[in-house]
This record gives sequence, structure tokens and C-alpha cells, in this order.
Amino acid sequence: MNVELSLYDPALTYTGQKQFDCEHALINSFVHNSLKPQVKKSLSVAYVLTDADQGDRFVGFFTIAQHMIDVSLLSSMQLGSLPRKIPCSRLIMLGVDKRYKGQKLGSKLMKHALTLTLSVAKQIGSFGMYLDADPLAVDFYQKLGFALLEGDKTPVPSPMFLPLGSICV
Ligand SMILES: CC(C)(COP(=O)(O)OP(=O)(O)OC[C@H]1O[C@@H](n2cnc3c(N)ncnc32)[C@H](O)[C@@H]1OP(=O)(O)O)[C@@H](O)C(=O)NCCC(=O)NCCS
Repeated sequence: MNVELSLYDPALTYTGQKQFDCEHALINSFVHNSLKPQVKKSLSVAYVLTDADQGDRFVGFFTIAQHMIDVSLLSSMQLGSLPRKIPCSRLIMLGVDKRYKGQKLGSKLMKHALTLTLSVAKQIGSFGMYLDADPLAVDFYQKLGFALLEGDKTPVPSPMFLPLGSICV
């Protein structure tokens, strides 16, 4: 395995993108059908992991965009006085192909997403990273420092947040 991270280019054809399988039907369908058009329209930016040992096969990805959340979502976090609308980065989709799971590739993707969040905050303002977690991925994000929002009332998927000051990359 020789995995490299790069910015997704919608003008390219990626080996294995149509066969990508992270064992999550909605995310698989997004990669097969919607990733390219969404990035083409600049609705999000994507970064991909490709395996040079397998003909640059598409083995993982995330998409990210700027977002705005209502401050009420952060009420359980005790972050002091804040305006009603909070600018943040939003991790929209994340997945690692089932043949590559458990090798810290999800962590590698998240490290890059959080580095981008820090960089964007310096340039245009961002209070942290927001995401809607699949229930099976909540523990994965908690290990990275994300807090569940709204406690027991959390709907599915579960909204999570990591304030800028708690990002360690
Ligand atoms: C979640 C996902 C991206 C993790 O990718 P991965 O490459 O297997 O994760 P890593 O190897 O970097 O794991 C990092 C740590 O998180 C843990 N972890 C990974 N997936 C986990 C999960 N679903 N639940 C709990 N812990 C998890 C690992 O055991 C590891 O723990 P450690 O640091 O104590 O050893 C991957 O399982 C996936 O694609 N899942 C399906 C799609 C999905 O749910 N995406 C998120 C939607 S919000």
C-alpha cells in the first residue's frame, strides 16, 4: 500500500471510484454518482486517497465546505457569549474503502480536514468544524475530540462540533 492524499479533480477519471465501497450505502452512492458534479459546481471541495500500488485506485475521500450553524446547537458546550449565527467548516462526507479500513487512513483524512479548518479560520473566519455523524462513526469522531451536540435529544445523524481552540493536528 502506497497511499497519497490529493485534491480531487473532477476533470479526471479515478480508477475504482465507481467500485468504491465503504460499507455505507448513502456514502457509496454519493461517491459513484454525485461527487464529481458536486465538486464541479464548487458546492464542496474533496480530497482523495489513492493507492499508487494499485494503479492510483480511489480508496478514501472527504468533502468539506463552509457552513453556518445556529448558536443554540452549541448550548451544551459552554463556549461563552456568542452571536446567533456561527461560521464554521463542515465535513460533509467521509469514507474509507472496506479493504483499507483500520490503517489510520480515516485519521489521515481527518487530520487534513482539520488543518484546512485552521487555515480557513485565519483567512475568512471559522469557529471550528461541524459535522453530522453516522451513529456508527460517533466514537471515531469522539476520539478526535468532537463533542456530541444536544445530548440525549440528538437526532440521527448526530450533530458534532470541534471548536477551533481544541483542534490539535
Ligand atoms: C469511519 C471511517 C472513515 C474510519 O476509517 P478508518 O481508516 O478505518 O479509521 P482509522 O484506522 O483512522 O481509525 C482511527 C481510530 O478510530 C477507531 N475507529 C475507526 N472506525 C471506527 C468506528 N466506526 N467506530 C469507532 N471507532 C472507530 C479505530 O479503531 C482507531 O482507534 P485507535 O486510534 O484507538 O486505534 C471508516 O470506517 C468508514 O469509511 N466508515 C463508513 C463510512 C462512515 O461511516 N463515514 C462517516 C460518516 S459521518
